[in-house]
Amino acid sequence: MTEQNFIPKAYSESIEKGQFTWSSPSNIALVKYWGKKDDQIPRNPSISFTLDNCKTTTTLRFSKKENQDNFSFDVFLDGDKKDDFKPKIETFFNRIEVYLPFLKEYHFTIETSNTFPHSSGIASSASGMSALAMCLMSVEKLLSNGVAPSAVEESFKSYDDYFNKKASFLARLGSGSACRSIEGDLIVWGEHREIKGSSDLFGTKYPYKFHENFKNYQDTILLVDKGEKRVSSTVGHNLMHNHPFAEQRFKQANENLYKLIEIFKSGDINAFIEIIESEALTLHAMMMTSLPYFILMKPNTLEIINKIWLFRQHTGLPVSFTLDAGANVHVLYPEKDVASVLEFIKNELVAYCENGHYICDIIGFGAKQLKIDN
Ligand code: PMV
Repeated sequence: MTEQNFIPKAYSESIEKGQFTWSSPSNIALVKYWGKKDDQIPRNPSISFTLDNCKTTTTLRFSKKENQDNFSFDVFLDGDKKDDFKPKIETFFNRIEVYLPFLKEYHFTIETSNTFPHSSGIASSASGMSALAMCLMSVEKLLSNGVAPSAVEESFKSYDDYFNKKASFLARLGSGSACRSIEGDLIVWGEHREIKGSSDLFGTKYPYKFHENFKNYQDTILLVDKGEKRVSSTVGHNLMHNHPFAEQRFKQANENLYKLIEIFKSGDINAFIEIIESEALTLHAMMMTSLPYFILMKPNTLEIINKIWLFRQHTGLPVSFTLDAGANVHVLYPEKDVASVLEFIKNELVAYCENGHYICDIIGFGAKQLKIDN
């Protein structure tokens, strides 16, 4: 499959105005994406749990406009106009216009809100970009009367398959990891020779056995530092060019994903923990060994990691951690251990969170349309 499969033929319908609302979750990578080529193509495949509670809800209103030379849109977060969000969306529209040729025909109002606080250190780009991509796909569906472009028959299983893959493809052009938020519960992005259907262009559902041990896996996000990230992920990805350990890292990510296939089949949680904790620390090791180097973990991040290791050693409970590009810690554990782990978190880890804040989340199943009238 290539980018060409997502360029539509002329649309059959002419629509004056309408609106769509979608909610889309965040996701947490188990094998990390860090380093990319042009057009948000990842240097290595990644895999993530889709989350459920941490999500963005976006309503997209659209109405036909006279002048079709430029993009025209307004953005609101929780009802407040956010002109500082506009450059990112303008860049996004520029990148996707060839795939959604109607973008300059409408004025858009984008109203968005997150279930997690804006300043929580939880990136809203994955949930935000995927929610917007779903809304835009709903507009395309309306314009094409739900009839698939001709490429669909050859390359996609059904119109829904086309819809989700194109939404993921578009979301990727907004923010790489956003392509893993369209569906759940376990999503692969990036071509891996052992994973059928995996693609650099969009996220796909993990196609093999996913052991019961991982069903309803829990993710309690400890908010260690709610501030804005000091180094953006765009800058971080770019520092993987000419990074002394880059090639080895990309190879390792492929191998870790390969090992996870067996682990997801057997349900071996100890082997799972070894991979995901190593992935988290490797991600941060890449940051610490790039030039310029930087550190996103905080002293409390390390305190929490050490406490988790001690707790695991003493109780034998399979509680583990992962990190994204920030100081917050994602505590991952099976559903059957919720009571003991939450007690441990309350007694021993909350003290390291900013204002004692944490968010309980669980593996989820991706974006949902909230209103179907338009
Ligand atoms: O999607 P981006 O460009 O914000 O990059 C996300 C990178 C990590 O969150 C650190 C890892 C990942 O795979 O999600």
